[in-house]
Amino acid sequence: MCGIFAYLNYLTPKSRLEVLDLLVTGLKRLEYRGYDSTGVAIDSPDSKNIVMVKRMGKVKVLEDAIQEHFTGGEYSEPVATHIGIAHTRWATHGEPCERNSHPQRSDEGNGFVVVHNGIITNYNDVKTFLRKRGYEFESETDTEVFAKLVHHLWKTHPTYSFRELVEQAILQLEGAFAVAVKSKHFPGECVAARRSSPLLVGIKTKTRLATDHIPILYGKDDKKQTSDQVLPRSDSTSEFMPLEEKEVEYFFASDASAVIEHTNRVIYLEDDDVAAVRDGTLSIHRLKKSLDDPHAREITTLKMEIQQIMKGNYDYFMQKEIFEQPDSVVNTMRGRVRFDGNAIVLGGIKDYIPEIKRCRRLMLIGCGTSYHSAVATRQLLEELTELPVMVELASDFLDRNTPIFRDDVCFFISQSGETADTLMALRYCKQRGALIVGITNTVGSSICRESHCGVHINAGPEIGVASTKAYTSQFISLVMFALVMSEDRLSLQQRRLEILQALSNLADQIRKVLKLDSKVQELAKDLYQHKSLLIMGRGYNFATCLEGALKVKELTYMHSEGIMAGELKHGPLALVDDSMPVLMIVLRDPVYVKCMNALQQVTSRKGCPIIICEEGDEETKAFSSRSLEIPRTVDCLQGILTVIPMQLLSYHIAVLRGCDVDCPRNLAKSVTVE
Ligand code: F6R
Repeated sequence: MCGIFAYLNYLTPKSRLEVLDLLVTGLKRLEYRGYDSTGVAIDSPDSKNIVMVKRMGKVKVLEDAIQEHFTGGEYSEPVATHIGIAHTRWATHGEPCERNSHPQRSDEGNGFVVVHNGIITNYNDVKTFLRKRGYEFESETDTEVFAKLVHHLWKTHPTYSFRELVEQAILQLEGAFAVAVKSKHFPGECVAARRSSPLLVGIKTKTRLATDHIPILYGKDDKKQTSDQVLPRSDSTSEFMPLEEKEVEYFFASDASAVIEHTNRVIYLEDDDVAAVRDGTLSIHRLKKSLDDPHAREITTLKMEIQQIMKGNYDYFMQKEIFEQPDSVVNTMRGRVRFDGNAIVLGGIKDYIPEIKRCRRLMLIGCGTSYHSAVATRQLLEELTELPVMVELASDFLDRNTPIFRDDVCFFISQSGETADTLMALRYCKQRGALIVGITNTVGSSICRESHCGVHINAGPEIGVASTKAYTSQFISLVMFALVMSEDRLSLQQRRLEILQALSNLADQIRKVLKLDSKVQELAKDLYQHKSLLIMGRGYNFATCLEGALKVKELTYMHSEGIMAGELKHGPLALVDDSMPVLMIVLRDPVYVKCMNALQQVTSRKGCPIIICEEGDEETKAFSSRSLEIPRTVDCLQGILTVIPMQLLSYHIAVLRGCDVDCPRNLAKSVTVE
């Protein structure tokens, strides 16, 4: 959903070519957020102007263009202080083309240039206002109004600092955005701000930072924003020291993967924070002070490792992430499940368990794959909590103005923790007094911060746009929650033990399923030229059908449908003939007989389904010439083992069809617009 990246070196000399290299690497890490077009802006060799390069397509195209463009020796000379901003775009307003790429500019002289992630909803009104004042627009983007509005304010308020200009512009804008702004009128400065779109500041220094917090400043006057002004203003903040490093590098980025190779020290900005760098000093400002505002923003230490965001020996991130699942599921359970004592502790919600047990109902809310993890675990949650459990797609939930009560407990499931629909649904429920539980994979994300309590799924960074390991870790997190809720129910102890036992074997069983890879690849060769694939199942495996079909659609651009086998005779059976590819999940669980009925309905219409069944189940296998056998596990965890062949199948079909596996067309990870 667009990635923004800015780099500033202060008294740490770097050539412009090095700065460009840094910017391009930052964009590569953020490419999964959008890959319609890219762009960078840096200072010209005489430092009087700003030079921009923008290209349609992926970061590689920009990288090649930069190599062609910046050939002069002056670009290799070290510069003590420099600022570059960069962007990778997922188009919302205006088709993908160079003109609509970011940075967007205020005027032909590149006075102010802006990179932006999000949507400015009142951009048409601002455009009309600016047009009346003589501004002409060169793109169809909403972002361009931001650059031109700052320019207009600069002309009309010549005494304003750069930071004040950006603040005043933000006051006029509605919507969700994270921005980084550079100006030739304010050399050596950079201002960034966020409202409902993610943004963090990375800090790299030669020596250990003298402080763990940056004080928050209020008010408009920063005519002389020296380090004195950055000092705390009241006694209550006197423990916080200003960030006054002599030699420092700063990064503004949409997420941590873009900065981790440079530094692990970051500040997550909050909504309506404005971060300004001037004379090497970073300050964080807010326009309005409210009573519950903290006095400072914490500088946190990232736990991520650089290897986690590299492809290693794999061809694609998605492939790597599928094969990481034996480890990622263990990481989700690490420190939480004690198999010897059958105990589960979820530190992030344990204090809220008594309140949750008293609730009226559990609502599980998410989008796409995250929603499917709710579908996958609903039945177990109903069984072990004995509470009504509703599963909701965040967008539809909001469209319906769903009634929410103070005694509801609402779970928001999101890999990125930034999905706009899910975040909006969270705020909606919070306003109505419900308890908010976040289930996310991204520490410091908006959903994480705005929840009352939650579970980090700890799957590690997921870079492939199609979600894989996050799904299985979300699944396990919800299973662990169900186990916690049933801890003191005597009648459920046998069932709990069975599930705990199965959880302890899960990693090995996933390894076994992954060994099916070459067999799945052979199946993919049979399927990749078809137009459609129907995936059928029921009970605990219905979610696998939905998730499998989503993977096939988004990665291969083939039509695919996840069909509840019980619904087959109510319509979808009409699709079945001898040429329609069908995949059926038929496991030895309480719905086995019903699944066999569906299987017979398909075969008697000349359908020849591929069957996913349990190891050694010869009777079921006999119904088809093509089958995939998976190890036996407890019914409620089958969905983890059945989804992996679907992930592999969609991956191999995508490769055979020549699709870009990690960056499917028209999509982006982290959907920060509604
Ligand atoms: C599909 C996929 C999407 C996401 C959805 C929600 O492979 O990745 O359907 O699951 O956009 O994203 P998060 O989980 O980040 O809220």
